[in-house]
Amino acid sequence: MINFEALFRISYGLYIVSSGNKDRGNGFISNTVFQVSAEPIKFAAVCNKNNYTADFIKESGVFAVSVLHKNTSPEIFGRFGFKSGKDLDKLEGMKVIFGETGVPIVLNDCIAYIECRVVQTTDVGTHLIFIGELVQSEIINDSKEPITYLYYRQVKKGVAPKNAPTYIDKSKLESGKEGTSTKKYKCGACGYIYDESTEMIKFTDLPDDWVCPVCGSEKSEFFEIDN
Ligand SMILES: Cc1cc2nc3c(=O)[nH]c(=O)nc-3n(C[C@H](O)[C@H](O)[C@H](O)COP(=O)(O)O)c2cc1C
Repeated sequence: MINFEALFRISYGLYIVSSGNKDRGNGFISNTVFQVSAEPIKFAAVCNKNNYTADFIKESGVFAVSVLHKNTSPEIFGRFGFKSGKDLDKLEGMKVIFGETGVPIVLNDCIAYIECRVVQTTDVGTHLIFIGELVQSEIINDSKEPITYLYYRQVKKGVAPKNAPTYIDKSKLESGKEGTSTKKYKCGACGYIYDESTEMIKFTDLPDDWVCPVCGSEKSEFFEIDN
C-alpha cells in the first residue's frame, strides 16, 4: 500500500536552480537539490524535461543553486516556481551575479550559493537528474536560516506545481478521506487556487496575515469557487 502522506515526511530544502550565460539565463524553484558525493564534491539537481531551464543546463553544461531563506518573498516563488522563462525574462530586474563558468546566480533572498559543472545526466522519465561537480560555493547571508519544503508547505501554505518531482495528484491524497467536505478558494489577483483537500488546513482557519504564495495578495482577495 502507498500512503502518499508518508511522502511529505521526506525532508527537502528550497532553491533557485539557474543556468545559462552572461547574455541569457533562466532559473526555476526546486526542492530536489542534494549532494551526492564528497570526493569530488558533486550535487544532483532534478529538473522536469519541460522546464525551460532544462534547455539552458543541457546547452551550457553548468548550473547554479541559490539557497533560499525562510522569509523568501512570495513573488520569488511565483516568478521562479509558477511561471516559465518561455513567457518572460525571469532574470530581468533580479540581483544577478555571474559565476566562474559565466552561469547567472540569483542573489534575491539567497543565503548561499553553489556553482556546478555538469558531469553526468540521467533520464528518469519525466525528469532529468543533472549531476554537477562543484566549481565554487559562497555564503551570502549568515544570519538567516534556509527554508525547508515542510516550512514552505505548513507555515507559508505554499504548494508545488505539476513539474515538481514531489507533486502529488490531489485525487491520490483524497482517497481514504471520504466524508470530509473540502472547498476551493481562488486568488482574485493571480488565479492561484487554494485547495483544502491537499492543504489539510481549512481556508478560514488560515491566519489573517496569510498571503497568496504566488503573488503575495492578501487573504481577503480570495473567493470560494466550485469544487
Ligand atoms: C515548491 C516548488 C518546488 C519545485 N520543485 C521542482 C523540482 O525539484 N524540479 C522541477 O523540475 N521543478 C520544480 N518545481 C517547478 C518549477 O519551479 C516550475 O515548473 C517552473 O515554472 C519552471 O520554470 P522554467 O520553465 O522557467 O524553467 C517546483 C516548484 C515549486 C513551487
